[in-house]
Amino acid sequence: RPHLSAHALDGLTVEEVPLARIAAEIGTPTWVYSAGALRRRARALASALDGAGLRASIHYAVKANSSRAVLRVLADEGLGADVVSEGELRAARAAGIPASAIVFSGVGKTERELRLALEEDIAQINLESAEEAVMLSALAAAMGRTARVALRVNPDVDARTHAKITTGRSENKFGVAIAEAPALYARLAALPGLEPVGVATHIGSQITAGMAAYRAAYARLAELVRALRAAGLPVRHVDCGGGLGIPYRDEPAPLPEALAGAIKSTLGLLGLPVMLEPGRWIAGPPGLLLASVILQKQGADRRFLVLDAAMNDLVRPAMYEAWHGILPVGARDLVAPLAPAEVVGPVCETGDTFARGRALPSLSPGALVAFLDAGAYGAVMSSTYNMRPLAAEVMVDGARFAVTRERQSYAALLGAERLPPWLGEAAP
Ligand code: LLP
Repeated sequence: RPHLSAHALDGLTVEEVPLARIAAEIGTPTWVYSAGALRRRARALASALDGAGLRASIHYAVKANSSRAVLRVLADEGLGADVVSEGELRAARAAGIPASAIVFSGVGKTERELRLALEEDIAQINLESAEEAVMLSALAAAMGRTARVALRVNPDVDARTHAKITTGRSENKFGVAIAEAPALYARLAALPGLEPVGVATHIGSQITAGMAAYRAAYARLAELVRALRAAGLPVRHVDCGGGLGIPYRDEPAPLPEALAGAIKSTLGLLGLPVMLEPGRWIAGPPGLLLASVILQKQGADRRFLVLDAAMNDLVRPAMYEAWHGILPVGARDLVAPLAPAEVVGPVCETGDTFARGRALPSLSPGALVAFLDAGAYGAVMSSTYNMRPLAAEVMVDGARFAVTRERQSYAALLGAERLPPWLGEAAP
């Protein structure tokens, strides 16, 4: 994490900005993103693909972090976007990502979403079923448009990741069975308003168990492309999905060079351009969640660090038993002796636990801590559970920082609600 450093005076620092300064000016909990780290990772992935001799385009999976500032930094690096909703499509466009670099994925796109994708004339719509193909064809024909479509196939491989984020098994809801793909692809070519341009897959997320699952999936995809070509069907590119894992703890995580190698060795001979949809690998390490200690509480047999961040902010530990590094921020706290602590939020359920038996120093009320590698599936998955406002977001770039999303105000939190007229507007 080259954007993070510990200073004897300033404590934990992102690029050149001490986190204590951000907390003093913006408060906590606050998400902090390093623009430098985002750029570095976008470039590292691009150069790994380049180094393997692949013609590749990177379509950042907006779901991982849809902050406009994050999207703009990545757009400036030449990345396109993979979106899964009207909101993400709008976010990508608002950040300046051209429609010609946007791919639309997802198992249930609404008619309204498909219509917007057609109006915007985005690069590609990834179809996940025959039913969806028929719906899109009718819409496109009625609008006098042609939709470039890829067929997402389910290669039935086990990515050996958390059950909630694996997608490439036949029992999962995603894509069409690879055995049905040739017939369906031929049907796409025959349907009005559709132009099949390729095949796509995505086998899961946080893949760290080596490249075997990727290689198996891509080998099946290559076989499918050969069959399609043999049948005289056009295939212009292959969408390899996302999923590349990151080391949250000390697990060995694959490098982008390994993924590029897996693509090259399986799909390389086809001579086609490939697309990638990475989310976490790009946006995870550059982000952290900055929180304050409310109090340190001595329980019957353990110490609890109660923070002002909670499962409504960062849900990954509660939802996936995910492990996030937690560092103290204060200069003295960074070198103080460690002892096990339960790190919890103030939300009223036991699941609001970030870490158990974590080695951390004794921390006073107001001390700061940082949850590492929280840039992906962090802020985007937060909620207002317990009527807690959505946290602020900040971007650091060198010695500068700026608020990129205001902390939600109580006026905004309460303001969207209405009483039904028969209950009256006045307080009782
Ligand atoms: N493409 C498709 C079609 C996807 O469904 C996903 C993620 C990606 C690309 C990006 O995957 P990535 O490179 O980020 O692994 N909330 C979970 C992760 C859910 C991933 C969903 N799909 C978590 O916090 O671990």
